[in-house]
Amino acid sequence: MKQPVTSCLTTLAVAAALTLQPVAAQNDGAAGLPVDSGAKYNDKGELMQPRGFREWVFIGSPLTPNALNGGSAGFPEFHNVYVSPAAYRHYQRTGEWPEGTVLVKELQLTRTATYADGSRNEPSGRGYFPSTPSGLDVSVKDSERFAATSNWGFFNFGHHAPPYAGAAQAAPKDACAGCHMSGAHEDMVFSDFYQQLKPLPLASQ
Ligand code: HEC
Repeated sequence: MKQPVTSCLTTLAVAAALTLQPVAAQNDGAAGLPVDSGAKYNDKGELMQPRGFREWVFIGSPLTPNALNGGSAGFPEFHNVYVSPAAYRHYQRTGEWPEGTVLVKELQLTRTATYADGSRNEPSGRGYFPSTPSGLDVSVKDSERFAATSNWGFFNFGHHAPPYAGAAQAAPKDACAGCHMSGAHEDMVFSDFYQQLKPLPLASQ
């Protein structure tokens, strides 16, 4: 069917606007960039910010409100945790994290509080509600690279609003791995917090 000229022009304008978007500056498969399936390093040996991690498997969101942590939590405030899809499937099958597992923890602030404990009211009730992203931490299982820190490397891409650093060096043991070595539930990961790792039972149909 013949399209009206104005509609064609609109389509062209939209296409041109999309082409002009700074796609290279977005970490988003929807922007046409490939989504990483695992860890990538640059020639300095730094871990590159995993591309498209928000399209990986979301496994949980522990919450440490600033208001309940003396005004500044170590990891403010929601911790949205994602895992690379192949590692998620392997863990579900075997209960073990395979070599090459990448876990991403993207931090996200809560909305402005109306109570001293940091909470506020919303139609669903009183609580903590997501606001802007506030940081990116990543861990990678690689028993050759990170033998000294129980086979996992830890990377901090900044605790601030995006954009996060494009690449990060492995953090010193004291900054990250030490706490995971002493406190994690199994194999350096706080797996018990991630109920989405467990199979979801199906109702009989
Ligand atoms: C004082 C203890 C502590 C330190 C230090 C620490 N973490 Fe964690 N980390 C945790 C806990 C507890 C969790 C479980 C979920 C949560 O509360 O965020 C966690 C979760 C994570 C996760 C999600 C997967 C998992 O292991 O559960 C990543 C990724 C992560 N941390 C990276 C880092 C990085 C990078 C650093 C250093 C910048 C760091 N952590 C330092 C305690 C710590």
